[in-house]
Amino acid sequence: MKLSKLVLTGAIGLVSLSLAACGGGSSSDSSGGGGSKTVFKLAFNQTEEHPQYKAAVDFGKKLEEATDGRYSVKVYPNEQLGTQSDVVQNLSNGTVEMMYIGGPVMEGFNSDFIVYNLPYMFAGYDAQQAIFNDDELNKDLFSSIEESKNITVLSALYAGVRNVYNSKHAVTTPADLQGLKVRVQQSDSQVAMIEAMGAIASPMGQGDVYSALQTGVLDGAENNETVYHSLKHDEVAKFYSYTKHLMIPDYLLISTQALNKMDDTDREAFLGLIPELREEANTGFLDFAKESRTASEAAGAAFNEDVDVAAFKALVQPMVESSVTANDVRKKLYEAVQKANEANPS
Ligand code: GCU
Repeated sequence: MKLSKLVLTGAIGLVSLSLAACGGGSSSDSSGGGGSKTVFKLAFNQTEEHPQYKAAVDFGKKLEEATDGRYSVKVYPNEQLGTQSDVVQNLSNGTVEMMYIGGPVMEGFNSDFIVYNLPYMFAGYDAQQAIFNDDELNKDLFSSIEESKNITVLSALYAGVRNVYNSKHAVTTPADLQGLKVRVQQSDSQVAMIEAMGAIASPMGQGDVYSALQTGVLDGAENNETVYHSLKHDEVAKFYSYTKHLMIPDYLLISTQALNKMDDTDREAFLGLIPELREEANTGFLDFAKESRTASEAAGAAFNEDVDVAAFKALVQPMVESSVTANDVRKKLYEAVQKANEANPS
């Protein structure tokens, strides 16, 4: 049961499944007349409207067909299975098989994931895609926590461009962020970033943000237009400003043991469907972001394009420099990003 290499275009197909014994993985197995059926639980922290949700549901149907009903996927949206930081622990211990996770949360397992989570890292969508199409570049990083944590990265997905929003005023220069309490994702890089930009960092899970904004525990947050609208943050923080500070991936994860437990044919079918999932989720995202902005505007939110992006970029530059030069792994990834940026200017 050892699968050493399987290269898939557009997905991280190199899965070094070194957990030879196939112990764990608590998929819901139920034996019907026709043999065992395994349903992978896939945790998602956003709504059913999100293209990542739809792509996962479609993936599950295709998987069921491709494996003659032996495998399928049940997607749990809206943080039903917990925050990403909680769910990933459950994935690691084998009680949840699959999930989508924001890049920064991965830093808790291997800090080298930071390179792709840094502000102003990618010149644009095409540059980022060039990096995530490069299986060879990412294979070591993406398989780095299989043995230690039972986590396999299947693919990196586009997750929009993140901007700041708050309940007080439009943000044009760094001075406008001074003193505002702004929610960030739960990682050191995100805290350091928003503090360099001038705000007071408040790391928390996504599900708590709405009420924190509503009660004034938070003044603002930073996210793409889809979260801003679908989680109704536009109701309680009307000022959205295009700082364009982040373009970070979401990852699709699977428990290494669950993947290892599949027989070779089923696993190949499973991995073969990942590029389609990624394509569907990425393409859908671009439209979803536009529709979300229009809907937020209709609901009365104000979008500010007049932002001194260069000033924010200058403030975060020292943390970017020190993060990407901390070791050889990061240096190599960063060099590749720079090349991708040159080849794909925005
Ligand atoms: C985005 C991203 C999620 C992440 C969320 C957040 O929606 O796609 O993976 O969890 O932001 O800010 O927590």
